Amino acid sequence: MTAEPSRPRRSVLYVPASNDKALAKIRSLACDAVVIDLEDAVAPADKLSAREKLAGIFAGRSNRRCEMVVRINALSSEWGADDLLAAAKCAPDAILLPKVDTPRDILEAGDVLDDNFAPDEVKLWAMMETPKALLNIGPIAELGRDPASRLVCFVAGTNDLVKDTGILTTPDRRYLVPWLMQMVVAARAGGLDLLDGVFNDFSDMDGFARECTEAAAMGFDGKSLIHPAQIEAANRAFAPSPEAIAEAGAIKDAFALAENTGKAVIALNGKMVEQLHLAQAEKLLAKAAAVRA
Ligand code: COA
Ligand code: MG
Repeated sequence: MTAEPSRPRRSVLYVPASNDKALAKIRSLACDAVVIDLEDAVAPADKLSAREKLAGIFAGRSNRRCEMVVRINALSSEWGADDLLAAAKCAPDAILLPKVDTPRDILEAGDVLDDNFAPDEVKLWAMMETPKALLNIGPIAELGRDPASRLVCFVAGTNDLVKDTGILTTPDRRYLVPWLMQMVVAARAGGLDLLDGVFNDFSDMDGFARECTEAAAMGFDGKSLIHPAQIEAANRAFAPSPEAIAEAGAIKDAFALAENTGKAVIALNGKMVEQLHLAQAEKLLAKAAAVRA
């Protein structure tokens, strides 16, 4: 299996598989990805009918620019195993596993995909939303270094973390931030993308934009969303800013000058710039190009 090319995941919208009106909206949305949800957005009485809709949802797929992911129920639940098989048949871009506690949870899902001949392009995303996941996050993230594991992305499940730990929620997320930063370090160690948790108050656009700005500053690649009104602000917050693009371009240009060939460190506008800044600048410019595409 080959490593996947990087693609923007600034705005990732949950769409309940049981909500036909929301499903009908998918092709008109400007988000980078949608997660068709079979888990918490679907009531137990609707679980089977929601699963049965998957094939139809993917049959009508036209917009390849927007990744399509399926969130299944936990493999430990009565629905998880059949959800995984049904999702695999649709060849989504990824299957999002909730309630992941250990590396084994990823490996077992990957084995099912392999046994059922799911193409290599079907990746796994994992919710980081349980206390056990936070204790095991290093070994879970390391699976990202092995393409055979299919793991490419972590999604912070902040509502579940709050529920399972009893922390108080505050606008600045002060009790969550240490765990979110733990996810950032783990995701980078494993070469994974990382999405922030949802912002529940979809009528508070200022609060949402502030949380996106903070998450981008913390190193997240994007945010998971619950409402179409949140897409635009997320796309803006997680794209490189014009100032950052200009600065990266200047660094690249400076190192390209004949007089700077082979240098490890140069001065640019009174600041020290090293090769690591060049690498950082090139990464940012690649991200900006991916967003433009
Ligand atoms: N995806 C696609 N379309 C959505 C949507 C979503 N997640 N949420 C709302 N819409 C659509 C609505 O269907 C409505 O469409 P219309 O203009 O054709 O009537 C429009 O956007 C405006 O919706 P609004 O009336 O503001 O919200 P609502 O009361 O219909 O729904 C929620 C509010 C929270 C129930 C809904 O946004 C939702 O279910 N979000 C996802 C929840 C989820 O997946 N949770 C699990 C992960 S945390
Ligand atoms: Mg959850």
